[in-house]
Amino acid sequence: MSLQAFKQQFKQELSGAYENIELNSLLSILIQHVTGWNQIQQVLHKDESLDKNIQAQLQAAIKELKLGKPIQYITGKAWFMGNNYTVNENVLIPRPETEELVDWIIEYANIIDKPLQILDIGTGSGCIPIALKLALPNCMIAGLDISDEALNVAKLNAEALKADISWMQEDILDTTYLPNQFDIIVSNPPYIPFKENVNMQVQVKNFEPNIALFVTNEDPLVFYRTIARLGKQYLSPKGQLFFEMHYDQGRALLALFDEMGYHAELRQDMFGKDRMLRASLKH
Ligand SMILES: C[S@@+](CC[C@H](N)C(=O)[O-])C[C@H]1O[C@@H](n2cnc3c(N)ncnc32)[C@H](O)[C@@H]1O
Repeated sequence: MSLQAFKQQFKQELSGAYENIELNSLLSILIQHVTGWNQIQQVLHKDESLDKNIQAQLQAAIKELKLGKPIQYITGKAWFMGNNYTVNENVLIPRPETEELVDWIIEYANIIDKPLQILDIGTGSGCIPIALKLALPNCMIAGLDISDEALNVAKLNAEALKADISWMQEDILDTTYLPNQFDIIVSNPPYIPFKENVNMQVQVKNFEPNIALFVTNEDPLVFYRTIARLGKQYLSPKGQLFFEMHYDQGRALLALFDEMGYHAELRQDMFGKDRMLRASLKH
């Protein structure tokens, strides 16, 4: 089979599941991943018969995409703030909204303009602390996760991107001690109430780790409350909490942080939805 013939088969088999523009992008990412050919090489080689091993990998990818597996888990790579991160089923695929959260922290840290101690809670692939370290090399940055498997991915990414980060394996819901005072504690915690899983895309609910996504229906804000409690003890004077959040939890979160003795403000994502929150202790 030639590349040209594969492209036709790919489009025929997946046209029901994806828009045309998305199909072209998936095709290009997949072919580059399996063959190593860039766009120009893909044109030059389009009529050649493909190696059997390459054909087998391409056919396997069609089957996985049909089941809804995200392309990032097929290639094992995802982009975040201009860098390529290793990902697998143990970590959430980094999202563009999280890039906006990191941008907000960088903006704040640049105003403060001194080396800061920063902790990321629920670090997953390590995308938040690594992106922060690359942008703010004088800051001391730590990443924490309950999952050893996620931390292994985070360590791999930090090594590949030459970011010096300290890692901690902890269940934050069962932690009363942190090894430091922090100027910034950031978290993109699990925040989707389990009942919402019926309306979620197959790509997310069947492939991304449940532990990264879901919280109980009864207490969806548990991570925010727990981190706010820890912040009272472990934030340095003028320390800040930064969070990513569910777009419709803004009012509930503002009330929660106010009740717990914090000033809090929301920030909207590129689609105009409440998506980020910053909080500092009232004095
Ligand atoms: C929404 S993901 C965020 C991953 C990454 N920070 C990002 O933004 O792409 C939440 C992360 O929290 C971790 N997590 C879940 N429960 C936890 C707990 N009790 N203590 C610490 N980390 C937890 C998950 O393993 C997952 O990596």
